[in-house]
Amino acid sequence: MSEAIPVTLIPGDGIGPEIVGATVKIVEASGAKIEWDRQLAGMAALNAVGDPMPVATLESIARTGVALKGPLETQLGSGYRSVNVALRMRFDLFANVRPARTLMPNGRYTGVDIILVRENTEGLYSGVEHYVKIGNDDHAAAESVAIITRAGADRVIRFAFEHAVSRGRKKLTLVHKANILKLSQGLFLETGRKIAKDYEGRIIFEERIIDAMAMHLVLTPEKYDVIVTTNMFGDILSDEISGLVGGLGLAPGANIGEKAAIFEAVHGTAPDIAGRGIANPGAVILAACLMLDHVGDAATATRIRTAMNDVLHSGKSLTSDLGGNATTTGFADAIIARLA
Ligand code: NAI
Repeated sequence: MSEAIPVTLIPGDGIGPEIVGATVKIVEASGAKIEWDRQLAGMAALNAVGDPMPVATLESIARTGVALKGPLETQLGSGYRSVNVALRMRFDLFANVRPARTLMPNGRYTGVDIILVRENTEGLYSGVEHYVKIGNDDHAAAESVAIITRAGADRVIRFAFEHAVSRGRKKLTLVHKANILKLSQGLFLETGRKIAKDYEGRIIFEERIIDAMAMHLVLTPEKYDVIVTTNMFGDILSDEISGLVGGLGLAPGANIGEKAAIFEAVHGTAPDIAGRGIANPGAVILAACLMLDHVGDAATATRIRTAMNDVLHSGKSLTSDLGGNATTTGFADAIIARLA
């Protein structure tokens, strides 16, 4: 018997404990050999130990190299810095991977199967911001600096090409705004064009300007395969893409670096429905499948995805965001009942 794989488990805030709990139940029922190391982060950690990002949690991720995480509450504008962003920076999780596939029958689109790879540490979200004083007004203006480095662009674009090859994909679309932001976006595009030459004959390379891309995704999403783009464009496009395939309740994401990977739902803590047992655990379940793929248990990931697909197609035991009236546990139990 192979040894259990240690994975850091962070239940998170709001609906986090409910949907992560349901997911753990499914992973355990699947027979996957995972040894959970439960840790706190976010508001739950602030309340328990006075720190939204406790040392014990950081040490656990450094040790296991893999974490499954529920959403964490971030205070807007003021308060502590986003723990999600801090974790990405701390473990240098430079690639954010968000796969989106048509899952619900009778949706607006069929045949959507896109993997979006978003640069996760640079661009407009680098955290380099300041106010500019004019006259007596300390906050007369504000500047946020978009930093693109050749090394940062190179590693995420190469990652996207490699991901495309390893998943048997055919095409990679680089999304940019180099027509206006000639230097920063230009550097990202120029780096992509160079790397594309290494993949000629294996992966088709195309370029799209962000605004046109936003429209093309709504008109013909089935034409896109793997997409790579800078931080903020990726943030916006990934929510757009999750909307094409049934909304946030079914959108998983992975933050991947050289030494660690953190898997999570794209959505947040859903404070409006937290504690009512009605949240859709689907996105965290699919994040757990990405985690299983990552640790080398793709067979179990496929079994869980197939069981979930069956439940979605049955039209029964669905949570309210998917048009049903099942509870979080009811949806999870229906998946467990179908696990082959
Ligand atoms: P949200 O994603 O939590 O909620 C948006 C809407 O989608 C709400 O109506 C909510 O009920 C619904 N929703 C989200 N997930 C759902 C699910 N699994 N099942 C059913 N309905 C679901 O976004 P919001 O309200 O902007 O953010 C709330 C908090 O979450 C904030 O503190 C924000 O910073 C944090 N957040 C954390 C993220 C993370 O930890 N990765 C990501 C996004 C937001």
